[in-house]
Amino acid sequence: MYTLEELKSFVVNCRKCPLCRGRTNVVFGQGNPKGDILFVGEGPGYYEDQQGLAFVGPAGQLLTKAIEGIGYTRDEVYIANIIKCRPPNNRNPLKDEVNACIPYLRWQVKIIQPKIIICLGAVAATNIIDPDFKITQERGKWYEKKGIWIMATYHPSAVLRDALKKRPFWEDFKELKKKHEEIKDEIHEN
Ligand code: URA
Ligand code: SF4
Repeated sequence: MYTLEELKSFVVNCRKCPLCRGRTNVVFGQGNPKGDILFVGEGPGYYEDQQGLAFVGPAGQLLTKAIEGIGYTRDEVYIANIIKCRPPNNRNPLKDEVNACIPYLRWQVKIIQPKIIICLGAVAATNIIDPDFKITQERGKWYEKKGIWIMATYHPSAVLRDALKKRPFWEDFKELKKKHEEIKDEIHEN
């Protein structure tokens, strides 16, 4: 079994798909390697590509606010993306690119062993929960897969573009807090 650092040292040199050509940095993801909660976005944007870190631009600032709003810090969770290299002009990743890259996320999940995964936006939700996932209708619902609780909410960038998404986004974060508290109770009972 690799550690996250070993996996990262391998992924930063990846050339498995054409996105390697346009990247400044591979964005492996960062945070608590033993975090209970894993957030999964879509892929790096401009700022993430420049810095090699996930969610550090405007969307990242909103994510930070939401995480802190329910009483956590970014350091206690883990934050990653479906794809690790920035697509040109932030277009959605192509199927082949996702297929090439998603094994790295699966490895991250195996190593981190999160109790909860939060999909940020439709790209994460369709690739993690269900290919037919409808973010507007199905956000905020819990799914259990292999002992991990999974929920999707809106992508923070979508919330920044549409003020009507703010309230449901915030509701979903409160749901996340509630679920995490419940799970912690279960751990104490055992
Ligand atoms: N959007 C994403 O999906 N991921 C990031 O890391 C930043 C913006
Ligand atoms: Fe490799 Fe993923 Fe980057 Fe493609 S997007 S080059 S598969 S790390």
